[in-house]
Amino acid sequence: MISSLAARLAAATSLIALAGTAISAEVNVYSSRHYDSDDALYEEFTKETGITVNRIEGKADELIARLEAEGANSPADVFITVDAGRMARAEEADLVQPYGSDAINEAVPEYLRHPDDLWFGVSQRARIIFYAKDRVDSPPQTYEALADPEYKGQICIRSSSNIYNQSLLASIIEADGAEAAKEWAAGVVDNFAREPQGGDTDQLKGLVSGECDIAVSNHYYFLRAFDEDVEGLTSGLDNIGWVWPNQDGRGTHVNLTAAAMAKSAPHPEEAKALLEFLTSEFAQQYFAEQNNEYPAVEGMTNDSTARLGDFKPDTTTPTAVFASNAKDAQAIFNEVNWP
Ligand SMILES: [Fe+2]
Repeated sequence: MISSLAARLAAATSLIALAGTAISAEVNVYSSRHYDSDDALYEEFTKETGITVNRIEGKADELIARLEAEGANSPADVFITVDAGRMARAEEADLVQPYGSDAINEAVPEYLRHPDDLWFGVSQRARIIFYAKDRVDSPPQTYEALADPEYKGQICIRSSSNIYNQSLLASIIEADGAEAAKEWAAGVVDNFAREPQGGDTDQLKGLVSGECDIAVSNHYYFLRAFDEDVEGLTSGLDNIGWVWPNQDGRGTHVNLTAAAMAKSAPHPEEAKALLEFLTSEFAQQYFAEQNNEYPAVEGMTNDSTARLGDFKPDTTTPTAVFASNAKDAQAIFNEVNWP
C-alpha cells in the first residue's frame, strides 16, 4: 500500500518535473563548494540568462555517490567540486559528459581542462611551503626537499586522509616514480614536528605558536588571515614567509575547483550556459576573490592573490593522475605510517 502510494507519488512528481523542464528554464547544480556568498554568483547568472539555478550542496564523495545512485534519472546538470582528484573519480565512474564549448576551451588553458572536454578548472589553488622567518634561514625550495634530513623535527602537515595531500603525493608519484615517492613520504614523516593534526590553517598556526618551523598548506588559508582575524595566525603573519615550490623544475602543484556537465543532464543547453558563465570575467573574479584563489582563465588577474605574487604552476603533470595515482598514494601513506 505504502509502496504503491510512494510509486504513484514518485510518478506524479516526475511528471511535474518533466512539465517544469518544458516551460521554465532551469539548471540543477550539484556542488561541493558551500559558501553562502555563491548565491550572488548564481543570481547574476539568472539575471543575465533568465535561467533559474537550483543548487544541491554536499561533500564531493556524497554527491558522487548520489549521482551514481540516481543514474540516468539524475536531475543533475552541472557538477562542481573543489578537488580535481574527485572530479577525476566522477569521470572514471562515467558521471560526466563532454561540455562541448569552444568558448570554454578558448578561455581555459589546456593544462586546466580534460582533453575530451569532460571537465575544466574554474579556479586554482596552490599547495605551498610556509616557514617561520626567524627560525628558518634556508627553507625547502621543492616538495622533494621537505624530506631532507636537514629539516628534522620542523615540518607540520596535515594527515594523509586529506585529499589535498593525496593529490600532492599522486603528483609526486607521477613526477618522481613510486619508489622515490615512498622514500619521500618516509622522509617527511621523519621530519614531522608533531603528529599530523587539524586542517591547513592549523599547520600555519603552528608556525606562530612555535610548534612548527615549516608548514605545508594551500595558499588561500594564509591569505584569508589577512582579510579576517584568524585567531593564532593573523597576529603572527609578519613572521611567515612562503616558497613557491619547484620553480626551477616542473612548477608548483595546483589543484582546481572544477566544473563538468553531468552525464544525464536533463537541461544540457542551460548547463552549457552556466558552465560558460563560470569562465566569464564576473564569475572568474568572483570565484577567485571570494576564496583568494587564482583565476583559471588566462590573462585574468586578481587583487586578492597579489600579495603572494606570480608563480609557475606545474603544467606538465596531468590533473587526471591525481585520481589514477590515488590508490598508490594511499598505499604509500599507509606503508610509511603517515597518520
Ligand atoms: Fe580548502
